[in-house]
Amino acid sequence: MLILGIESSCDETSAAVVRIDGKERVVLSNIIASQIDTHRLYGGVVPEIASRAHIEAISSITARALEEAELNLSDIELIGVTAAPGLIGALLVGVNFAKSLAYANNIPLVGINHIRAHVAAAYLAYPDLEPPALALVVSGGHSAIYDIKTPVDFTEIGSTRDDAVGEAFDKVGRLLGLPYPAGAAFDRLANEGDETAVSLPSPAIGGQNLDFSFSGLKTAAVNYLHTCEQRGIVPDRGDLAASFTKSVVEAFAQKLEGALRLTGHKRLIVAGGVAANSHLRRRLYTLCELMQVKLYIPPLSLCGDNAAMVAAQAYYEYLSGKRDGTDLNASATV
Ligand code: KG4
Ligand code: ZN
Repeated sequence: MLILGIESSCDETSAAVVRIDGKERVVLSNIIASQIDTHRLYGGVVPEIASRAHIEAISSITARALEEAELNLSDIELIGVTAAPGLIGALLVGVNFAKSLAYANNIPLVGINHIRAHVAAAYLAYPDLEPPALALVVSGGHSAIYDIKTPVDFTEIGSTRDDAVGEAFDKVGRLLGLPYPAGAAFDRLANEGDETAVSLPSPAIGGQNLDFSFSGLKTAAVNYLHTCEQRGIVPDRGDLAASFTKSVVEAFAQKLEGALRLTGHKRLIVAGGVAANSHLRRRLYTLCELMQVKLYIPPLSLCGDNAAMVAAQAYYEYLSGKRDGTDLNASATV
């Protein structure tokens, strides 16, 4: 089946063509137009600017995705578009565009949940992967653990109670002088420091739960930098980055260990932009080896927001019978 995916939930306009026939999963094109350079000027994503940039880019990005796949719209058998969650104005651009394409060309349409799409990136990277599995989705907007019975049967069993982990990396990274989004530079900076140098709270919430809170950790890092400034001490940026990363990584390892024991799953999928973090990857490889669990982390190119993952999830939603019509709407929340 040839599927066109469209993604516009945040600051990346993306269109992709994916061919899925059973275990054969081929990304024929995956065009991503990033708005990061624009938003960097403001230190974060400006929703109004994001919507306008999506409007400008979406037609040509889709045309390029078809061109690179060497296909015409008439070859496409299914359109999948991110419909939730995300920035509402940004989502509406993709949803409206996809609806028009589907309606005008008589192609079936399915609205896709962005978090499920992040997980579906793993099905593209590992054609033999089939749920049941446990999944950790970590990005600029989400930090949650899911019990996945089938690609369309998700139960959230743990999540952040406040900020997302990517947001925390970006906020502390900004204070460390790193450009937005700070994740990748933060990752490198953490290699230069001592992870035991700064004492920081764990974002793992105590007790029998699988939840996180990143606001306390974020505030502790901010306070550390303020205290250094007040005392006229130049903080070691590497030490703070390493200690902060250690705190985050250990919290995920602790809760995932609990979640794996609870569910008995032998597969762990880690998805979303923060899955690119090298320290998290290493720690989870060790955990999974110890617990004899198979770890699936998509390659970096499929970790961040992209439309190939949306097309992959669309395939499973379509197989399960989901269809959307011209009344498909976007939703900022799940
Ligand atoms: O999934 P994504 O591209 O967009 C959202 O849906 O949010 O995730 C973006 C987030 C940003 O907060 C970025 O700083 C973070 O992923 N990120 C990282 C790394 N690479 C990207 N965080 C930690 N370490 C990284 N290597
Ligand atoms: Zn995302």
